[in-house]
Amino acid sequence: MQIKRFSLKHIKEEAAADATTEEKKDTRSLPQMIDDVIRNYHRPELEQMDEIETLLRRALFTDYAKNEYQLLYIHSKFAEFKASLEQHFAKEEAVVFPLMLDETRRNRASWVKVMELENEHSQAEEKIWDLRQNTSYFSIPGDSCEAMQDAYRKLAVLCDGISDHVTEENGVIFPAYEKLIE
Ligand SMILES: [Fe+2]
Ligand SMILES: [Fe+2]
Repeated sequence: MQIKRFSLKHIKEEAAADATTEEKKDTRSLPQMIDDVIRNYHRPELEQMDEIETLLRRALFTDYAKNEYQLLYIHSKFAEFKASLEQHFAKEEAVVFPLMLDETRRNRASWVKVMELENEHSQAEEKIWDLRQNTSYFSIPGDSCEAMQDAYRKLAVLCDGISDHVTEENGVIFPAYEKLIE
């Protein structure tokens, strides 16, 4: 077994690394964080979902005869997933984010609305889990048409992005908001 040695140089290096991490603390304001999440996640994800929807519709007509079971599953589940995410994004942008930015309404009641979003994030993560499980982690079915292959690749990217999006809201934006109402 190798014994780890801690020299003075090593300790100084660790302290310097800690200081650098400290400097990387998120210094953005809440309005900036919210702008960033809309620009970096909502807008591109809405576009990605439109593209996937179009590809799946094309695949449905091209591959129906040879891949009926998988196509019907993914076509229906994706439609449901897309609708729930669009409604969630709209709720954030039209109701909850403006509430979070309204300094006169920062209270426990507004926090309850934020917690509703966290609950919806858990539901989205469950849907992603189901999609992954039922597609063997988006393994492209053999002899699929181009549209189906593209749809699966884009769906895998979308789901990874949604997980990062949820991490940003639950792990960065909501804790920053909670500090403001304490
Ligand atoms: Fe969001
Ligand atoms: Fe969200």
